[in-house]
Amino acid sequence: MQFKQLRVLVCILIMEYLSASSDGDDHFIFTNGFSGANLSLDGAATITPNGLLRLTRVEKQQKGHAIFPNRLQFRRSPGGNIFSFSTTFVFAIIPEYYNLGGHGIVFFISPTMNFSTAIPSQFFGILNSNTNGDPSNHILAIELDTIQNSELYDIDDDHVGIDINSVQSNTSKHAAYFDNLTSEFHNLSLLSGELMQVWVDYDGGEMTLNVTISPVQVMKPKRPLLSLVVNLSSILLDSMYVGFSSSTGTVVASHYLLGWSFKMNGMADALNISTLPSIPKLAIKEKSKYLTIWLPVVVCVALLTGLSVAIFMVKRRIQFAELIEDWELQYGPQRFSYKALFKATKGFKDKELLGIGGFGRVYKGVLAKSNTEIAVKKMSHESRQGIREFIAEIASLGRLRHRNLVQLLGYCRRRGELFLVYDYMPNGSLDKFLHSQGKPALNWPQRLHIIKGVASGLEYLHEDWEQVVIHRDIKANNVLLDSELNGRLGDFGLARLYDHDTDPQTTHIVGTMGYLAPEFARTGRATTMTDVFAFGVFILEVVCGRRPIEPKSQADHQILLVDWVVENWQRGTIVDTRDPRMEEYKDDDLELVLELGLLCSHPLSASRPTMRQVVQYLNGDAPLPQLSSTIANFNLQSFQQNKGFDEYVLSYPISSATPGRSGDDQSEVLLNNTVDLDV
Ligand SMILES: *[C@@H]1O[C@H](CO)[C@@H](O)[C@H](O)[C@H]1NC(C)=O
Ligand SMILES: *[C@@H]1O[C@H](CO)[C@@H](O)[C@H](O)[C@H]1NC(C)=O
Ligand SMILES: *[C@@H]1O[C@H](CO)[C@@H](O)[C@H](O)[C@H]1NC(C)=O
Ligand SMILES: *[C@@H]1O[C@H](CO)[C@@H](O)[C@H](O)[C@H]1NC(C)=O
Ligand SMILES: *[C@@H]1O[C@H](CO)[C@@H](O)[C@H](O)[C@H]1NC(C)=O
Ligand SMILES: *[C@@H]1O[C@H](CO)[C@@H](O)[C@H](O)[C@H]1NC(C)=O
Ligand SMILES: *[C@@H]1O[C@H](CO)[C@@H](O)[C@H](O)[C@H]1NC(C)=O
Ligand SMILES: *[C@@H]1O[C@H](CO)[C@@H](O)[C@H](O)[C@H]1NC(C)=O
Repeated sequence: MQFKQLRVLVCILIMEYLSASSDGDDHFIFTNGFSGANLSLDGAATITPNGLLRLTRVEKQQKGHAIFPNRLQFRRSPGGNIFSFSTTFVFAIIPEYYNLGGHGIVFFISPTMNFSTAIPSQFFGILNSNTNGDPSNHILAIELDTIQNSELYDIDDDHVGIDINSVQSNTSKHAAYFDNLTSEFHNLSLLSGELMQVWVDYDGGEMTLNVTISPVQVMKPKRPLLSLVVNLSSILLDSMYVGFSSSTGTVVASHYLLGWSFKMNGMADALNISTLPSIPKLAIKEKSKYLTIWLPVVVCVALLTGLSVAIFMVKRRIQFAELIEDWELQYGPQRFSYKALFKATKGFKDKELLGIGGFGRVYKGVLAKSNTEIAVKKMSHESRQGIREFIAEIASLGRLRHRNLVQLLGYCRRRGELFLVYDYMPNGSLDKFLHSQGKPALNWPQRLHIIKGVASGLEYLHEDWEQVVIHRDIKANNVLLDSELNGRLGDFGLARLYDHDTDPQTTHIVGTMGYLAPEFARTGRATTMTDVFAFGVFILEVVCGRRPIEPKSQADHQILLVDWVVENWQRGTIVDTRDPRMEEYKDDDLELVLELGLLCSHPLSASRPTMRQVVQYLNGDAPLPQLSSTIANFNLQSFQQNKGFDEYVLSYPISSATPGRSGDDQSEVLLNNTVDLDV
């Protein structure tokens, strides 16, 4: 009880509200749920004990409103211009049936709070067929619409629209968010039950109204979904109410709001995602016709059918049972249902198997809903310890977005099993192209393109993301090729996250022989510089078409690729180290890239460039430093390095250290490596 009171108190404190109405600086924020919030609620709207604002529950023909109780001043003086304003809110829609629910949520600005004559369903509880389209409504609404209504010219059943005095949108688009990094819009499903955030920003000077939406774990995208030039001065009145309305029709859903912030003449204060209340566990029913059709036929048959249906349901329940704990709800969007993965992989059929490795199996799949191809890595996990941190890490890595990284889409957990879901890479691993006979040899432009791509992906991990991500296992085998032969770094199972500017602690030694920096073999400390070292070896591997360490039987060449290239460099024959299968190339380019490879795999970490510099060298934006001054130590150092390897092998005999292991496809990449569960 005490805790509850404290919560209410906190909410009241957080719900700071300043009403200096005529000055146009109204603002308020509800970021800790709505417990104790002073909102005007009507219809089906209610505030749940844990602070959710539920506008409708799963019941037909409902409408519900939640309105800020005071009018806000939208212009300084009558006839003047409407102020700029900004608002943001987090919502979730939980439909009754999978992918079927209605009708949606609107945010509105209205001169009245009296919606007694408004109709639910497609009118969202704000208008009715008589008032729809009437300029005297003075209503602006942003609709999140989950039903396609042809009279209203709805574009589809999953769209966001701007409505002026009418529920027929002035402009609307399929729900989607802009990805800053890839500069693409990604579709969203409003009915997915996932938490999503909306921003509505109006610039009174420019007279533009922007609407932006994104999954809650993605920061506000740079570009809005909708941007409409509209003079709201001729639409809105001086003082208006702001609030939300929601409705159900013959199809129904629970419509939830989790947080809301509004500000006149400025940016709405950001919502703290971590303090929002949590939504109830998804209780979405599958559409099932069996019961209603078959049961009434004959009583006797019905009994039997009933029994078998019951057995079927119980079996199904067991078959699709998965583990979800409360703390996981925040990762909702990245959590795949076991059922979805089961369907995608056709029941984890052997036919869909991409490969088997030490940690489990990797299957190819196609997600039914979006028709996207995925690779599902299925691993066993017995221990509960560490799983929470691990999932947090997965969720965090899932937010990495770069065209040269294999996207980690999410995960699923059952008792004893863990599934990681990745983008499917049709061309498999680069290793296969370099070292196996079956594949066509890559030409020089393709190889250069792959090297540049991987460099850019690694630069993003090291320098451009919110945290420094050290990959720890860069090698050809971990680079996958997409359909356009872009190189994409895969498997972040080994990556550990470090906050910028903190000293990476010594952790488990992971990595692959031949790619390990000498200081790493000695100290076990992975840093961005140990990644750069491995990247240097990777460059040489790609250009020379040789493994970093050739088995002794082929001893007509040096055992270490790096040493062999250095020797050739000293003799002035570095270009001869290239893969002989490459026919056309430019000497200058080839030399530059090989020298860059040597510079990156320099035994002294201080002599290696950062990934930012590497990208500059590769793009010709900065000249490559002369190698000669530092390279003299190379042989001595690599001797020590050799020794380092021996020590390493003696003290840390791990299987992934086998040199020359050939990865034939994505499965190898995903399976070869330890996902370090820390258990
Ligand atoms: C809620 O706000 C209204 C309008 O400002 C005010 O009249 C009322 O007293 C407030 N109620 C509470 C409990 O603060
Ligand atoms: C709301 O409007 C209706 C119709 O205009 C009216 O009958 C009713 O009294 C109003 N309700 C309130 C609370 O003002
Ligand atoms: C769009 O908004 C204007 C007001 O600016 C309104 O007059 C017009 O009817 C709306 N158009 C549509 C298609 O709803
Ligand atoms: C997004 O959805 C729209 C409408 O269903 C569809 O036309 C479009 O192709 C989808 N885009 C992607 C990238 O899936
Ligand atoms: C609306 O979006 C456009 C395009 O991104 C941007 O230039 C403009 O500043 C935005 N306006 C507001 C009020 O957010
Ligand atoms: C996208 O860019 C905007 C503006 O630069 C920034 O505020 C936002 O955090 C970025 N979002 C992501 C997901 O990187
Ligand atoms: C916007 O509308 C207001 C009220 O109708 C009008 O006074 C003003 O001139 C309009 N502004 C522009 C730029 O059209
Ligand atoms: C969000 O809330 C959490 C938990 O109360 C707090 O630790 C964190 O500092 C807050 N973040 C911001 C940006 O206010």
